Amino acid sequence: MKKFNKEIINGVTFVDGYLIVNKQYSLPKNYGNGLTEELQVAFFNMQNAALKENIELKIISGFRSYEHQKEVYESYLKIDSKESVDTYSAKPGHSEHQSGLAIDINKDDDSFIDTKEARWLDNNAYKYGFILRYPEGKSEITGYKYEPWHYRYVGKYLAKKLYNNGDWETIEEYFKI
Ligand code: DAL
Ligand code: ZN
Repeated sequence: MKKFNKEIINGVTFVDGYLIVNKQYSLPKNYGNGLTEELQVAFFNMQNAALKENIELKIISGFRSYEHQKEVYESYLKIDSKESVDTYSAKPGHSEHQSGLAIDINKDDDSFIDTKEARWLDNNAYKYGFILRYPEGKSEITGYKYEPWHYRYVGKYLAKKLYNNGDWETIEEYFKI
């Protein structure tokens, strides 16, 4: 069985060089300062390719600081139970948005499911290095409900692996973490 190399650098966990943030692994409070350059270039390329097929993509949420995520998470707690909130909103320090490597595209509610934009992303985003981070049926593994709008940049190599011919695998499954 392949062994993956896990290392923690300044409080940030990497497996085989890929930054990991989930319910188990967090980011330091002061980590992050915007979307990474690589993600921005990849998104721009993806957006242009999509437009040629009449698919319009836009980022509706990109980088979120620890403080911003704290506000988001706490605002949900005012209107919903903690048990429910924890299925769709990350606690501060645990959001992938703080890494600068995750984006929400077009619409972050269930009405995005079954749109042509969601389908296009599901089938094409991996070609630009993005993965569907919280796939349908993987809540037990990711800890979050299906989010067809949330894409994580990992680069083309890993994205193709996780795309898995249309049967998305999660980062947690792939790296056995
Ligand atoms: N909605 C995702 C899980 C987040 O809050 O980062
Ligand atoms: Zn998101």
